[in-house]
Amino acid sequence: MPDSGPLLDTHGRVHRDLRISLTDRCSLRCTYCMPEQGVEWLAKSSILSTDEIVRVAQAAADAGITTFRLTGGEPLLRRDVVDVVRRLARLKSPDGPVQVAMTTNGIVLASMLDDLIDAGLSRLNISIDTLRRDRFAALTRRDRLDDVLAGITAAAESGLRPLKLNTVAMRGVNDDEMVDLVRFALDHGAELRFIEQMPLDAGHTWDRSAMVTRDEILAALGTRWRLEPVPGRGGAPAERWRLHGPGAHEGATVGVIASVTAPFCGACDRLRLTADGQLRNCLFSTHEFDLLPSLRGDASDVVVEDVLRRCIWAKLPGHAINDPSFLQPDRGMNAIGG
Ligand code: 5AD
Ligand code: SF4
Repeated sequence: MPDSGPLLDTHGRVHRDLRISLTDRCSLRCTYCMPEQGVEWLAKSSILSTDEIVRVAQAAADAGITTFRLTGGEPLLRRDVVDVVRRLARLKSPDGPVQVAMTTNGIVLASMLDDLIDAGLSRLNISIDTLRRDRFAALTRRDRLDDVLAGITAAAESGLRPLKLNTVAMRGVNDDEMVDLVRFALDHGAELRFIEQMPLDAGHTWDRSAMVTRDEILAALGTRWRLEPVPGRGGAPAERWRLHGPGAHEGATVGVIASVTAPFCGACDRLRLTADGQLRNCLFSTHEFDLLPSLRGDASDVVVEDVLRRCIWAKLPGHAINDPSFLQPDRGMNAIGG
């Protein structure tokens, strides 16, 4: 294993993107992510402090990480989230300044957006699975659609671009809204990205037959628009298409993240830090690399970097969702970070 230079794994992939979960708490209870009740929250004492997060991020940036994406649970529930953004945005990698992005459910975004932008946030992904109030309440178990819409409006009015909206496509839940969701995104200067549902729910209720596939999504959109593939995907999870036809302005695009039917592990450049200090080299890892002893003992930064490098070096070529021996990770998505 190299102890300097880019963050390389044994399959030749260089890692540039660290997803940092700021909390496992959330203001929603999306059915595909969390059970309604009985969530076992992470112990408060194990949650990384902001100093600890910045220390890991600094080590990661020094080793070539150029993007930090803040996730949760819901990252905006962390009280000092603006401070976290400010401190991460100041970090430099050998390739230059880093970017700080965030994936949020949007609920408290409207009131926080100006401060986040002032702190140096550079990109936003907001999750929205339905535009219908009753469906939203059923799917998330909270009647908060209006708050999310206010968050999206605020993001649309801000200068933050590209702006992305995430939708998990679900059969019999929102698969009749795909065209409406894309049109809604276009009206807000955003790109809609459909995500294939993955087996990551804490309730272990994922069912392949209920999953809406990439091809079904494209077929539904194809009834309204002509889709032209956008080349140059690089390591990005989303495949993108330019939209031509009704209501699609110049440059209108849509994305599909087909983690299940068209895995993109071969180009993966991502790793994850959970709110309780565990490094994961994949959403679907069953093994974690514990940073807490190094962060809370008297270990030097060299040791922190070594844990990062060992985690990446141990990365498997791909997830095995499609393999009969696939084991769902113990943690739900809210405790892993999206
Ligand atoms: N499958 C696919 N996407 C999921 N998300 C959460 N759980 C799942 C799942 N099981 C999405 C959220 C959010 C992003 C971080 O991941 O809706 O948009
Ligand atoms: Fe919260 Fe996101 Fe999980 Fe929904 S998917 S419950 S918004 S963490």
